[in-house]
Amino acid sequence: MHPLVAVPHTPVHPLPRLASALGLGKDQLWIKREDLTGLAGGGNKARKLELFAEQATSGGYEVLVTGGGPQSNHARITAAAAALLGLECELVLRRPDPRWPDDVHPSGNLLLDRMLGANITWVGALPFGELNQAIEDAAKAHPRKALAIPIGGSSLPGATAYAHVGAQLNEQLDFDLAVVAIGSGGTHAGLAAGLGDHSRVLGINVGAQDGVAEFITDLAADTATALGHDAPAGVVQIDDDHVGEAYGVPTKGCEEALLLAARTEGLLLDPVYTGKAMAGLITLARNGKLAGKRIVFVHTGGLPGLLASRYTQWMGGQL
Ligand SMILES: Cc1ncc(COP(=O)(O)O)c(C=O)c1O
Repeated sequence: MHPLVAVPHTPVHPLPRLASALGLGKDQLWIKREDLTGLAGGGNKARKLELFAEQATSGGYEVLVTGGGPQSNHARITAAAAALLGLECELVLRRPDPRWPDDVHPSGNLLLDRMLGANITWVGALPFGELNQAIEDAAKAHPRKALAIPIGGSSLPGATAYAHVGAQLNEQLDFDLAVVAIGSGGTHAGLAAGLGDHSRVLGINVGAQDGVAEFITDLAADTATALGHDAPAGVVQIDDDHVGEAYGVPTKGCEEALLLAARTEGLLLDPVYTGKAMAGLITLARNGKLAGKRIVFVHTGGLPGLLASRYTQWMGGQL
């Protein structure tokens, strides 16, 4: 199969100017550039799709079906993977807020989904479990052989991809704590499984689903078992203080994080995931919780989301 991840060995480098701005030592803050994986804008979802794509090609599937919010990065990457593999892509997307009629003037990820040739079915504001069910139903009802991929790609294949990234990161850098955004939880679960230790991963929850701690604990254990390892030691670490009003609604902390990262390091974050994750890291640094530790921020991509009209209006209004 054609590899989906153009840059499997993503770089790790320090962020000395951001570290200084946060009162950390220049060697204390690093970044793992998972935003640079490649495939239609890159990010963590490209890695997750690789294993689903293998499943699709070896199983003779003709259609990839997935879903999420209208600005889902995972949906964009699934559409790109389908295009690259010559498959059809069906996206089941939650109806956007009527104040931003994204379906009339698509922007951000939705624009890219359309450009990549995905068919889109709009559903109401379904909760997580019901949307996953709608994805499965759409796959079953499809006249061609269709593979259902859960929201965010957060089942065993997606987490396994991130267990490999955890092992890769361990070889690249001597660090104490990886900080990562939690959406559906598969990236965090995989990293913890790959590092073998929950105490080395802190997830900043962005509020995409309830019950994420239990989900990550179980998925991390299952992923480790599937790889022939022990379940990660310790207890899953999650910061729930940076969700704000709701999933997808930017916070003041997120705004500050986007501007600080951009203006100290030329680093672009997104308003839904990496911006809130960086806001969590900034709070920890300011509260002295990172003293004496070497931190690696896992940049999971998502930049196309910032260019959705909803978020350009928000950020543009701050400048
Ligand atoms: C840019 C970005 N970062 C982080 C995440 C969170 O990853 P996960 O769903 O594996 O928790 C997502 C998920 O949609 C994402 O799109």
